[in-house]
Amino acid sequence: MTTGRYIAFEGLEGCGKSTHVTRLADALGGVATREPGGTEIGASLRTAMLDASNTMLSPRAEALMMAADRAQHLDELVLPTLRAGKHVVSDRSAFSSLAYQGYGRMLDIDELNRFNNWAIAGNWPDLVVFIDVPLEQLLERLKKRELDRFEREDRAFFKRIFTGFHTMAAADPNRWLIVDGTPPKDELAATILTQVCERLQITLS
Ligand code: TMP
Repeated sequence: MTTGRYIAFEGLEGCGKSTHVTRLADALGGVATREPGGTEIGASLRTAMLDASNTMLSPRAEALMMAADRAQHLDELVLPTLRAGKHVVSDRSAFSSLAYQGYGRMLDIDELNRFNNWAIAGNWPDLVVFIDVPLEQLLERLKKRELDRFEREDRAFFKRIFTGFHTMAAADPNRWLIVDGTPPKDELAATILTQVCERLQITLS
């Protein structure tokens, strides 16, 4: 049996990732999941990390909690699913840690790379779909939500993350697929499906 492919979506909050994770997983007959919080153990880490009242959580503790969530996610869900021959479509991946804890919180990116690589035992996503929506548009969308601990950060934080994602995508174009996130949902879902199948040479049955 051939193994499934590991596809991750990346982007800033409000870019529409979750919708397109579900749409792509359904179209591929794969498993939709997310980081943080794709497992029961991860869900409790997610609650602690997103809780806006946890103002004391240190950046290094946050980075380790994200990596712990990820280690559990890979061992419990991602790797067994891939081995069973199914595709995994994940809302975020280790690249989010490089973007948020690295570019955003300004922790050392090489260190983050090293311990995240250990957390995922070297299993980085085969393909990363970056949903590109202009920063100002995303910040406008955030104004309509009840904000979690990350969403309360300032524009400069999100700007660094936005730049970080673009820098990583430009450095590794074979792994990253940048899609314009502004077209209507259905049109974007169709574009993503076509381009992912093309990149990973997946034939739909
Ligand atoms: P979500 O908004 O995609 O549900 O993700 C929850 C928040 O966690 C979001 O603000 C991004 C942040 N995050 C990190 O800071 N580092 C990570 O490694 C991951 C996976 C998410």
